[in-house]
Amino acid sequence: MAIKLGFIGTGSIAHAHGDAYRKMGDRIEYVACCDLNEERAKNFAEKYGFKKYYTDYKQMLAENQFDAIEVCTWNSAHAECTIAALNAGANVKCEKPMAMNTEEALAMKEAAEKNGKLLMIGFVRRHGNDANAAIDFIDKGFLGDVYFIKASYLRRAGFPGGWFGDKSRSGGGPLIDLGVHVIDLSRYVVGNPKPVTVFGATFNKIGSRNHLKTGPKDWASSTEAEDPIFTVEDLATAMIRFDNGVVLYVEASFNLNMSNNTPGGLVFYGNKAGLTLDPFELHTECNDMLADIKIHGPTGCGDFFYYEDTNFLDAIEGKAECKAPADDGIELMRILDAIYESARTGKSVDIVR
Ligand SMILES: NC(=O)c1ccc[n+]([C@@H]2O[C@H](COP(=O)([O-])OP(=O)(O)OC[C@H]3O[C@@H](n4cnc5c(N)ncnc54)[C@H](O)[C@@H]3O)[C@@H](O)[C@H]2O)c1
Repeated sequence: MAIKLGFIGTGSIAHAHGDAYRKMGDRIEYVACCDLNEERAKNFAEKYGFKKYYTDYKQMLAENQFDAIEVCTWNSAHAECTIAALNAGANVKCEKPMAMNTEEALAMKEAAEKNGKLLMIGFVRRHGNDANAAIDFIDKGFLGDVYFIKASYLRRAGFPGGWFGDKSRSGGGPLIDLGVHVIDLSRYVVGNPKPVTVFGATFNKIGSRNHLKTGPKDWASSTEAEDPIFTVEDLATAMIRFDNGVVLYVEASFNLNMSNNTPGGLVFYGNKAGLTLDPFELHTECNDMLADIKIHGPTGCGDFFYYEDTNFLDAIEGKAECKAPADDGIELMRILDAIYESARTGKSVDIVR
């Protein structure tokens, strides 16, 4: 039986998932999609073959039955749309970040449990070939004891525009938008340790950079043309200590006066070797000399949206374990709440549960 699919939010990222589902052929029945912006919902329905489109998700959920709902709205609508879809009997995959804060995330998990449905979080980096390869190298002992991780997601001029700069809809800036990806991937690769203590700092020194005529903008919100608003940080940095002793340093920016060549990405430092993800390389010793080992193989992201969406459907049908359960979304929100709190107070924050 085909999986009855619906979308809430049909902006930019919804198309990445639409393209992924399209590769699954008749495994999917395209029931309905919804966006506050009617034009966007209509175009999405026509492009992917949804039978109906709506501007009110409550009406869509009341008039149709779904096995699976993708929540791809701006962040402030994640919790209400997810909870409504779960209460309507659907399994839900909600885009990252899971919510605006931990409290909302906990309410979402409670709704999933109450209804006996799956709630998965769109941590797409968990599904990349590089994540699998890194875990494999660590499990087989090539890095030894991993004790420090550096995670960067720095853009020199990369504010996506629209609601991404409006704290009331985004919950924050590059930390909650970009930092989420690399913090989660770091946790995932080293076995999902729990955060214990956080020290963070955020800045808004450059702002939106909307005056720039050109720039390496690699993501744009569908609401980009709205009045410019920038009430979020433009740079965030933090150190996070986990319960297994691992320390993660993270930095994320929309705008930063850096060279385009500033190295980013993830580095896992172990006592036997360090591992960078992009390029996928080991930094170690060989015959009493320093050595860099370039790995050839499936070590890029691959078709990670397709892998993510396949995992969602497989998990719904009991064919696979969900790789990004709600619990990990909640841990991420605990980390983000603590970083913003630490940035506000100037003090480190202990995560008490
Ligand atoms: N996994 C990734 O790599 C990735 C990449 C980009 C964005 N995202 C996430 O995806 C989500 C959407 O981002 P985007 O770039 O597509 O933004 P976008 O602005 O392009 O699209 C968001 C859409 O949600 C709609 N919307 C908001 N509230 C709604 C509601 N209550 N009911 C129906 N529609 C509603 C808006 O009208 C808009 O069309 C965000 O949470 C973002 O963090 C994830």
